[in-house]
Amino acid sequence: MQRNKISVIGAGNVGASVAQALAVEKLGDIFLFDVVDGIPEGKALDIQEGAPHWGFDLQIKGFTTTNPKVYENLKGSDVVVITAGLARKPGMSRDDLLAKNVEILSSVSKSIKDYCPDARIVVVTNTADVMAYAVQKVTGIKPERIIGLGGSLDSSRFRTFLSMELGVSVKDINAFVIGGHGDDMVPFIRYSSAGGIPIERLLSKEKIDAIVKRTRFGGGEIVDLLKSGSAYYAPAISITAMVRSILHDEKRIIPSAAYLTGKHAEYYGASGIFIGLPIKIGSNGVEEIYDIDFKPDELELWKKTVASVKSGCAKVDEFLKGAR
Ligand code: NAI
Ligand code: 2OP
Repeated sequence: MQRNKISVIGAGNVGASVAQALAVEKLGDIFLFDVVDGIPEGKALDIQEGAPHWGFDLQIKGFTTTNPKVYENLKGSDVVVITAGLARKPGMSRDDLLAKNVEILSSVSKSIKDYCPDARIVVVTNTADVMAYAVQKVTGIKPERIIGLGGSLDSSRFRTFLSMELGVSVKDINAFVIGGHGDDMVPFIRYSSAGGIPIERLLSKEKIDAIVKRTRFGGGEIVDLLKSGSAYYAPAISITAMVRSILHDEKRIIPSAAYLTGKHAEYYGASGIFIGLPIKIGSNGVEEIYDIDFKPDELELWKKTVASVKSGCAKVDEFLKGAR
């Protein structure tokens, strides 16, 4: 039986961690790409050398992309995970960062289109909803094959904080976060439960508000603690769950950024953008988007997060127009 092939572009903290997690779960051969000479080869070999202990018989290979020809090795990829990008540096505005990351993703995604246009693509580089939009614009790849990371990680944080507060197993917490992967994401309280019991019956409003706030700033909490760089362990396993659902056609419902069009665009009042919603992930990528109902206060939160994502996409449009 032929093994699956997963390519990970960007072998930094998230890229290398997800490569290891995918290998440990024996999901397929893993090809790592990065622009810094030796980093992808070194990290790939390091992961490979743990194989006897982890018990995987897979190929883990690394490629330095200063020679763009190495992207030929994307051929045959079933899934490509994009983590390449820059973090904000002193003196750099958010818009400068967005422009830089769109530039990086434009070049990377052209290679994906050239060598593995049928791959399912998981976009991780921030802001992931907006970057997923950029990848789709640049490549014209079918939008349902592109999924942005956000809700898988944010919901994992939300469930973790609820389980810590309630003192119950995280396995019994069902909860999700929708919207953009930014400060105005929407942890969806009304559909959250522990063992099937609505959390509003189990926790006070003050406690729930504190958990919602902590979830929204979950990424920032890690940045403040690490002082340099951002989270990568929880992101890596959140990506792995998405990749597993694609490769094993698990059809799991994992909140993630999907492209809104047609009846869903009409329902959610947002068309032609990628934004986080509960979606079914299977071998075709996004196989279903679920329409959840909103109470008036939830609708206001939803409109706010849609506006943020739309504004990011408008900047991508401007940048791509300028780049033509
Ligand atoms: P990192 O800085 O450790 O790694 C980024 C890697 O990308 C570096 O190794 C760099 O050399 C590489 N890179 C830069 N330009 C490249 C190019 N043109 N071609 C190939 N490789 C290139 O950063 P980290 O922590 O791995 O995060 C990666 C991205 O993922 C960041 O944008 C981060 O904000 C984002 N992120 C998003 C999450 C989400 O929920 N959507 C969660 C965690 C991280
Ligand atoms: C996070 O939420 C940095 O977006 C990343 O940790």
